[in-house]
Amino acid sequence: MSTLAIAVLASGRGSNLQALLDAIAAGALQARIAGVFSDKPASGAIAIARAHGLHAVAISPRDCADRAAHDEALFSEIAAVQPDLIVCAGYMRIIGAAALRRFEGRMINIHPSLLPRYPGLDTHARALAAGDDEHGASVHAVIPELDAGPLLAQVRVPVLAGDDAASLARRLLPREHALLVATARLFAQRRVQLHADHALLDGRRLLAPLQLDAANHLTGA
Ligand code: GRF
Repeated sequence: MSTLAIAVLASGRGSNLQALLDAIAAGALQARIAGVFSDKPASGAIAIARAHGLHAVAISPRDCADRAAHDEALFSEIAAVQPDLIVCAGYMRIIGAAALRRFEGRMINIHPSLLPRYPGLDTHARALAAGDDEHGASVHAVIPELDAGPLLAQVRVPVLAGDDAASLARRLLPREHALLVATARLFAQRRVQLHADHALLDGRRLLAPLQLDAANHLTGA
């Protein structure tokens, strides 16, 4: 099996990218980061990529005529590294249908909520405002609709008395990292196939997202 080539798409601090790099370095993920791509030249993700000597490309929307031109420029750079998998880890722009079509079945997103609850922004505050007693993160296939697409895997954390959005985010983040690594491992093992309206694991349709347990194993298939 060839080593899974991952392209990471990120706008922010890059802790999920760092988690993938750590897992690869530890031998816990048979993959390589083929490139890191961003709309934010000053992002932490780009800084981490450069510090690791990775291929890093940032294209600011300001330098492009319109949304479609930005997508085209960035996704052409992604295509050039021939990724097996594109991981959106805090990429804060909506990706147009043309770019998605180009990478159909090869793009996942990590989102900090138990989807289908709370697509979009401010997920931690919204979970608290709703009085939820648990919160979590989801990995799903990317489709044109925001934070939708077949769910692959989730991790759950309790909401504790006295939590605010910041404390809840802090509790969730390391679990998100473990979720992303465990899900990427399924791709490295070539066990997942993504379709527009469902995902296959080991050739069988996933009827519910896998759940990350305390030992960082995905269960429930
Ligand atoms: C994570 O919470 C991810 O779930 C969300 O954006 C954040 C990115 O964090 N979509 P980082 O840039 O990987 O640290």
